[in-house]
Formats: sequence, C-alpha cells, structure tokens
Amino acid sequence: MKPIYDTIGKGYTGKRVPDPRIAAAIHGALGQAKTVLNVGAGTGSYEPTDRNVTALEPSTEMIQQRPQGAAKVVQGFSENIPFADNQFDAAMAVLTVHHWTNFEAGIREMQRVAKERLVILTFDPAAPYFWLADYLPEIIELDQPIMPPIAKFADLLGEVKVSSVPIPNDCTDGFLGAYWQRPHAYLDPEVRAAISTFAKLEEAPKALQELEADLKSGAWEERYGHMNALKELDIGYRLVTAELS
Ligand SMILES: C[S@@+](CC[C@H](N)C(=O)[O-])C[C@H]1O[C@@H](n2cnc3c(N)ncnc32)[C@H](O)[C@@H]1O
Repeated sequence: MKPIYDTIGKGYTGKRVPDPRIAAAIHGALGQAKTVLNVGAGTGSYEPTDRNVTALEPSTEMIQQRPQGAAKVVQGFSENIPFADNQFDAAMAVLTVHHWTNFEAGIREMQRVAKERLVILTFDPAAPYFWLADYLPEIIELDQPIMPPIAKFADLLGEVKVSSVPIPNDCTDGFLGAYWQRPHAYLDPEVRAAISTFAKLEEAPKALQELEADLKSGAWEERYGHMNALKELDIGYRLVTAELS
C-alpha cells in the first residue's frame, strides 16, 4: 500500500515549521531519555537535537524532505516497528496516530521497543471544536472515526499523564488548528495543502466561500473576534505521557 503522505506530503516543510513552544512541551515530556525513537517522524519536526534520535517513517516523500543533518531514518510503519524490544529509552509520536491503520498495534509496538516512556501528541476527539467546524462540520465527521479517544491510551498503557497543549496564536506549525486566530489563512490553498484533513475535503474551497464572505462583511469578527485578545487557546491538542518502568 502506498503511504498516504507520498501524495499529500509534498511541500510539507514549507508550511509545517515546528513550533518552539510545542517542541518545549514534547522535549520536557521526554525527561531524561537519551535514546529516542520518533514514530511517524515525517520530515523530522520536533526531534530533539540533544539526544540520540532514530526516526521511523513510511513515506518516501516525507523522508526525502528531511533536512541535512536530521536524525537517521528507517522506512517503516508503527504497526511493525523494525527494532528490538527495549532498544530505546523513549518513543515519541507527533500528530500521527490518527493516520495509523491499526492504532492499538502501533501503541503496543512503541511499548515494546521503549524502556522508559512514551510521549504522544494527539487530538482529543471529545474536545469542543474551534470555529472552523462551524463552516466545515465535515471536519468532525472525518475526525471522529480516526482520532483515538484519549481514554484508549490508558486502556492500553495503564496510568498516563494527559496535558493540554494550548496552541499559540502565531503557531508556526500549520496543522489544522494552527490558524485559529488567523482565519484568512484557511482561504489559502497552500496552507490547506499542508493539512491532511483538507486533502479529504474536496468541497472545502466551496464551503470556505462563506468564511470569505463573513470575513469581508465583519460577521466573522462579530462572532469570533473575542478570541483576538488571546495569546493561546486550548483547542483539543493533548500530550499523552506514559511511564513504562
Ligand atoms: C501529520 S504528519 C506528522 C509528521 C511529524 N511527526 C510531524 O509532527 O511533523 C503524519 C505522519 O504520519 C505518517 N504515518 C502515516 N501512517 C503511518 C503508520 N502506519 N506508521 C507510522 N507513520 C505513519 C505519515 O507518513 C506522516 O509522515
């Protein structure tokens, strides 16, 4: 099967610049781990540079965009991690678990290859959606079947720590929620091309005409302008940390 990011991952690094505040949360959660496996590593975003990192990524397109000097990468899937039991101190997975064909198998595999801890950045499908879903309710329909419920992590891993990762108003990593305070961004096809949800929403440009009209008329500002004073907002992103030993 051709990895989906071979098609939708083109130009990923242009709009998906790792955000330093999110990076700090991920790196803090990795604790003292010296060896780290990054599962679904993509182009290398959020890989700490002060530890020994190995990347695992299925998509050739994404691997080719890894910058010079990035951690060594092995091509493969979370569901069948090509490393030995307990080979790493920690395993991390950032904005990837919803793409896996078998979430449970992927988590079991991370648990198998890591000795100390797992760190996973994901989205809580039970969290209230931010305003974009008022224009595109299809986002919710698309997310619900693929985003693992947060309780599922504890089912699989036992006790886990779940912390909210508020998204800065100038977030540099252009994922779906990054532009909550910059509504015009969603009208830009290049911004949408770097967000996997939009690849599945063929009718999005038509639905976004309403957003464009509301931005012109001031209706958006009237409804959502109260958020303009905020520096960050909790829109459902969660960092899940599990201690393994
Ligand atoms: C949104 S990107 C995130 C990439 C990177 N972690 C980041 O934060 O920029 C999702 C990544 O998950 C990868 N992926 C999809 N299915 C996967 C699977 N079954 N196992 C591991 N990675 C997978 C994709 O190829 C893609 O690189």
